[in-house]
Amino acid sequence: MNKREILTAKRQKSSEGGGLDKIASQHKKGKLTARERIHFLIDEGSFQEIGSLVTHRSKDFGMEKQQFLGDGVVTGYGTIAGRLIYVFSQDFTIFGGSLSETHAEKIVKIMDLAMKNGAPLIGLNDSGGARIQEGVVSLGGYADIFYRNTLASGVIPQLSAIMGPCAGGAVYSPAITDYIFMVENTSYMFVTGPNVVKTVTHEEVTSEELGGASVHSSKSGVAHFAAANEIECINQLKKLLSYIPSNCEEQAPLLPYTISNETRDVLKDIIPGNANQPYDMRDVVSGIVDEDSFFEVHKNFAENIIVGFARLAGRSIGIVGNQPSQLAGCLDIHASQKAARFVRFCDCFNIPLLVLEDVPGFLPGTDQEWNAIITNGAKLLYAFSEATVPRITVITRKAYGGAYDVMNSKHIGCDLNFAWPTSEIAVMGAKGAAEIIFKKEIDTSEDKEAKMKEKTDEYGDLFANPYRAAERGFIDEVIFPEETREKLIKGFKMLENKVVNLPRKKHGNIPL
Ligand code: HXC
Repeated sequence: MNKREILTAKRQKSSEGGGLDKIASQHKKGKLTARERIHFLIDEGSFQEIGSLVTHRSKDFGMEKQQFLGDGVVTGYGTIAGRLIYVFSQDFTIFGGSLSETHAEKIVKIMDLAMKNGAPLIGLNDSGGARIQEGVVSLGGYADIFYRNTLASGVIPQLSAIMGPCAGGAVYSPAITDYIFMVENTSYMFVTGPNVVKTVTHEEVTSEELGGASVHSSKSGVAHFAAANEIECINQLKKLLSYIPSNCEEQAPLLPYTISNETRDVLKDIIPGNANQPYDMRDVVSGIVDEDSFFEVHKNFAENIIVGFARLAGRSIGIVGNQPSQLAGCLDIHASQKAARFVRFCDCFNIPLLVLEDVPGFLPGTDQEWNAIITNGAKLLYAFSEATVPRITVITRKAYGGAYDVMNSKHIGCDLNFAWPTSEIAVMGAKGAAEIIFKKEIDTSEDKEAKMKEKTDEYGDLFANPYRAAERGFIDEVIFPEETREKLIKGFKMLENKVVNLPRKKHGNIPL
């Protein structure tokens, strides 16, 4: 073979991964190959591979005779919607995508490039974990990746799609990244698999039950998105990228928009006449934001709070909203964790925050107290307090107790706080308040029920409205629901050059 033919042959060999049989078996499992995934992810013709000729260095167990060009991971860069991204895609057809020393070095190389050039890193994970034949050098390779994931956190967006097995300590790289996407029935994540679980706890559980997409996107909250198949997963990932900037120094893409009549009558009738009746906060969101622009994150986890990205007059914003249709919109441990992490992501990447508030308080109970609602609720308080991006709150109905303070109140740095006329801003609901402060009067009354009603009404008239807070300036304006979109468009525009300098420190100590 002449020199050109040698390179051509090597390129061909590298592109075949572990061989045609292994590719067929990957397809049989309903999975795409590493290269097919990149093909669907990246703008056509934009992918530039790096490291296609890398091979492992292992000599134990006859490994020197089993060499595959690329060593189980395809790495490189390209564009998505014209914007630069870096990608690694593990190739299950080569030693089950397991991570060798050189496989890790390839990933590290593109992580370093992504950091130096300020562009997102996307990991498509499909791996049997540490390359068992290599021992500790493989573990070292993982740690090199974890370390870089941590240094890159808050500098460039890091997105992880899980498209096959992801077990043992390998789960910790995705866990450090910003968002985890999983595919139903073909991907799973766990620290110890079903066999170890059976030995240690005698529980019988399948991989899917233990760490599949639905369990992680609803019960544990480890995954932010679950997709029915790999193409849907890749499309979700691309969609998310459209809302976020390439690094912490940049702003998210701003779509062209001309302001016209922004009154939205649809918002008038969402809040029910009875304050105890639920409604779907998503209706408020869709009434406010640009049509069909709400992209919900963590949709099936901690459903008593909703978080996600949207556009408002073409501007990318992050939304946190209490959800009155689930647990009456109470804040609990999972809701606090979910919202706090989302707020911190938005703050890392200059995405303004809109908070839609209807919260009767924190969820009571031993389960919550014993599992540290104090520490976890404090996470949300901390996350809002330290966020320096433009922050606007709209109180739609209840803003009670500590939850009023926590949900982006003006006292913790919110820039504009609006309230609808249906707002109730008080220490607690009128009935509960009357039972406490008028206890003696009610107990000694001849008609306890009538007294209770009278005192409840009295407290309600005084506090179950937005005006006490507005008189103090805690609420900037009481607005009609239909005015909300316009107020927010103008508010975020007014805040677009906001600068806040936090006290100098090494880093804060968020209550983890
Ligand atoms: C080397 C591996 C491998 C590994 C799979 N293979 N995992 N080779 N190191 N970790 C190889 C298999 O030998 C096989 O090679 C090929 O990949 C495909 O594997 P199969 O078992 O045939 O595929 P499947 O039936 O789909 O099962 C996939 C699997 C299983 C569930 C991932 O292979 C498995 O359980 N692997 C071991 C997982 C594991 O325990 N890893 C270590 C975790 S600890 P051939 O040549 O036969 O095709 C860990 C620590 C990380 O990762 C710590 C970081 C701090």
